[in-house]
Amino acid sequence: MQRISLVRILAVVLAAGLVVPPAEGRDPIYGRKGMVVAQESLAAHVGIAVLKSGGNAVDAAVAVGFALAVTHPFAGNLGGGGFMLVRLADGRSSFIDFREAAPARASHDMYLDSNGAPTRDSIVGWRASGIPGTVRGLELAHKKFGSKAWAALLQPAIDLAAKGFPVSRWQMESWREYEGSLSKFAESKRIFLKGGAGYEWQEDFRQPELAGTLGRIAATGSRDFYEGETAKLIADAMAKNGGLITLDDLRGYRAMERTPLEGDYHGYHIITSPPPSSGGVGILQMAAMLDGSGYEAFGAGSAGEYHYLAEVMRRFYADRSSYLGDPGFVKNPIAGLLDPAYVHERRASIDPARATPSEQVSPGLAASHEGANTTHFSIVDGWGNCVALTYTLNNGYGSAVTVPGAGFLLNDEMDDFSAKPGTANMFGLVQGENNSIAPGKRPLSSMTPTIITKDGKPFLVLGAPGGATIISAVLQVLLDVIDFHMNVQDAVDFPRVHQQWKPDVLVVERGVSPDSVALLAKMGYTSREGVLAEVQAIEISEGWLEGAVDERGPGEAVGY
Ligand code: DON
Repeated sequence: MQRISLVRILAVVLAAGLVVPPAEGRDPIYGRKGMVVAQESLAAHVGIAVLKSGGNAVDAAVAVGFALAVTHPFAGNLGGGGFMLVRLADGRSSFIDFREAAPARASHDMYLDSNGAPTRDSIVGWRASGIPGTVRGLELAHKKFGSKAWAALLQPAIDLAAKGFPVSRWQMESWREYEGSLSKFAESKRIFLKGGAGYEWQEDFRQPELAGTLGRIAATGSRDFYEGETAKLIADAMAKNGGLITLDDLRGYRAMERTPLEGDYHGYHIITSPPPSSGGVGILQMAAMLDGSGYEAFGAGSAGEYHYLAEVMRRFYADRSSYLGDPGFVKNPIAGLLDPAYVHERRASIDPARATPSEQVSPGLAASHEGANTTHFSIVDGWGNCVALTYTLNNGYGSAVTVPGAGFLLNDEMDDFSAKPGTANMFGLVQGENNSIAPGKRPLSSMTPTIITKDGKPFLVLGAPGGATIISAVLQVLLDVIDFHMNVQDAVDFPRVHQQWKPDVLVVERGVSPDSVALLAKMGYTSREGVLAEVQAIEISEGWLEGAVDERGPGEAVGY
């Protein structure tokens, strides 16, 4: 698994008198001039075609973003939002925040019933959606960094929607799995479940209404979506069905450019996601807690390694629950959370031999410091421009509501707020008042597009879907590459663990050795098996682009 030749491994193994060398994992996909790693193949090929025709990584990202809205309706979207991290070959970086915002009529307790208990309205149906951000976000990225004509970047998506494409096995299964929620809404049932009959494997899937919407966006830019015909379709349907989003909400929505968070770790430079993502703070804080802990000595996949990972995760997720939220509404104590003295104190509270019960871990900042389903793709072009983009409808197929006449699903991102501070949301995340609902506010996210450089040159581009488990997965992949010298594919595929403070459970993947799990149990961990976030990553190494699509899910790495 390590980046050393098989011959050397064999030599070491034979010298040690052992018989079986460690298994080599899968190779990554190689490229020289361009690489796109996405969770759906047709969209990945759209991105490569843009790069081959002279477009840059941002052009390709815009085209892939729109294509996934057609070919991967599970998470690709026009009706959701996300984050795009760009690092240009000249060294500049930028973070485009196109996270959904709460509509003007949203309120603190809007998802509580008369007994004060949270309802499912934040997850399914017309009231679950924040104001979509994707179209404005892709447009802002294109205006700032794109080089190809906007309409040309939408054309592949328009063609895929109008002419159709064969339904993959993954897609067929996925629609079956979500039949319960999609069939509640007539337009979703008609389009995605073929009126209830369901699509077969390889059957042609066409989306004429979506092709129309994309055509209008190609012609007039985001104006159509936020002020024009599409805006009217959204607002009218919302008014008719008890939803909250109005024309004024749409007109007022802005994508924002923010400054990425940055930090150093073991000779590498990490560029990552600022609030309203909680992910970048998490990556930098957890990496800093691990630095100097000596955790690497236990070896990748050992109980000792997983113990340290779980303990730094537990401490970060406790902080996440209290301190973080939309920077337009709350003061995020980032400097305090990353302060070396605070990080030292948190690291020192880790018992090398025992799990710390979560009830003994609180959000730890001193007062003085106070101040479902998603998709990710990574792109690197031949100039060395990099894009890491994660966007989402939240749950698979979002709120399950399709805008009639417009052909796209709306998000249920309102569930990422704390509907009731102190109680868990869909991902089991317990969150506080800083992430409570208010008009115009953006819910705290775990999406963590991240780019790592070495000596000023791009080294690793990565991110993942997977709700709360995104942050811990991105951390583990970067540790496996940096500290355990795995190639990027092995790092992406390597079994992971996740601990999010509450519930006090260690989630372990099937590939984690049962011996490690038994040792962890002796140290005080209660574990359960689960599948964690799917990382899409590119490593840039000695002139090679190495693409890794996660074996846990669908998709393809395409390079040339
Ligand atoms: O922004 C967030 O943290 C969530 N809405 C992400 C949802 C997600 O990754 C679901 N995927 N499995």
